[in-house]
Amino acid sequence: MRYSPSLLKSSPKNESVALYARYRSDAAVAQYCDLHYGPDKFGVPNFPQKMAQLSAAELAGKPQRKALDLGCAVGRSSFELATCFDQVTGVDFSARFIDIAQRLKQRGKLCYQLSEEGDLISDQQVFLADLGLAEAATRVSFLQGNAQCLEPHFCHYDLILAANLIDRLSTPGKFLANIHRRLVIDGLLVIASPYDWLERFTTPKQWLGGRFRAGLPVASLDGLKKKLAKHFVMLGEPRDVEFVVRETARTFRHSISQVTLWRRVR
Ligand SMILES: C[S@@+](CC[C@H](N)C(=O)[O-])C[C@H]1O[C@@H](n2cnc3c(N)ncnc32)[C@H](O)[C@@H]1O
Repeated sequence: MRYSPSLLKSSPKNESVALYARYRSDAAVAQYCDLHYGPDKFGVPNFPQKMAQLSAAELAGKPQRKALDLGCAVGRSSFELATCFDQVTGVDFSARFIDIAQRLKQRGKLCYQLSEEGDLISDQQVFLADLGLAEAATRVSFLQGNAQCLEPHFCHYDLILAANLIDRLSTPGKFLANIHRRLVIDGLLVIASPYDWLERFTTPKQWLGGRFRAGLPVASLDGLKKKLAKHFVMLGEPRDVEFVVRETARTFRHSISQVTLWRRVR
């Protein structure tokens, strides 16, 4: 591991300083690169890989033509899904994330900087080939877009994965009420969420649960079931899948997503 001194406090006249400052300030980018492509932490398996694996396992023996990864961030689940699907599309609202995923697909290599402690950062690089994903990458495309208002041609998917997305949407209920239009009948919808509702993303009125309605507490899972009941049946029981976000060398955030699988029946 090579440590680089952070140049944030240096003269902004120097172009490389500006570049470093831009990267350093965007901790979220580094955290997602590490969550998707960095080493496992505390024995918790790679979350986007696990989401792709459990989605594909549910579709074993069924058509695996087209998959849509909504809120794909820097793309790990999309690449993983392409190890079994003929065609995978990763969509994210963030042009920055999509740019990183696209460059990784094109070059097979990703470089990013992790925060270590204080002003210290470390350079990291990962290769798709080392992850066994170089060939699968040829079947993936990444697009910047809004999962809540996709163009009509995003349709006929065998699988839609929405991993840790719904609690980042402004209108999650509307998203769920319309998502069946994008799937084939019998297609699989996979939703994962820690139900981490935050007002800066979703006004409380739009939360699927995690609040009181008519004086009674409503759980997000119940809100989810209500929104999907018309077109889907839930497969099996909800399950918990953990993920760990590395903030610095010594600070980590451990979350548990609730994963539910839904088959489109109408
Ligand atoms: C919490 S992250 C989850 C990323 C990835 N699915 C994972 O599991 O690691 C939520 C992602 O959804 C994206 N996002 C938020 N709102 C979106 C929207 N309306 N349409 C598409 N992507 C969105 C964010 O940019 C971010 O990459």
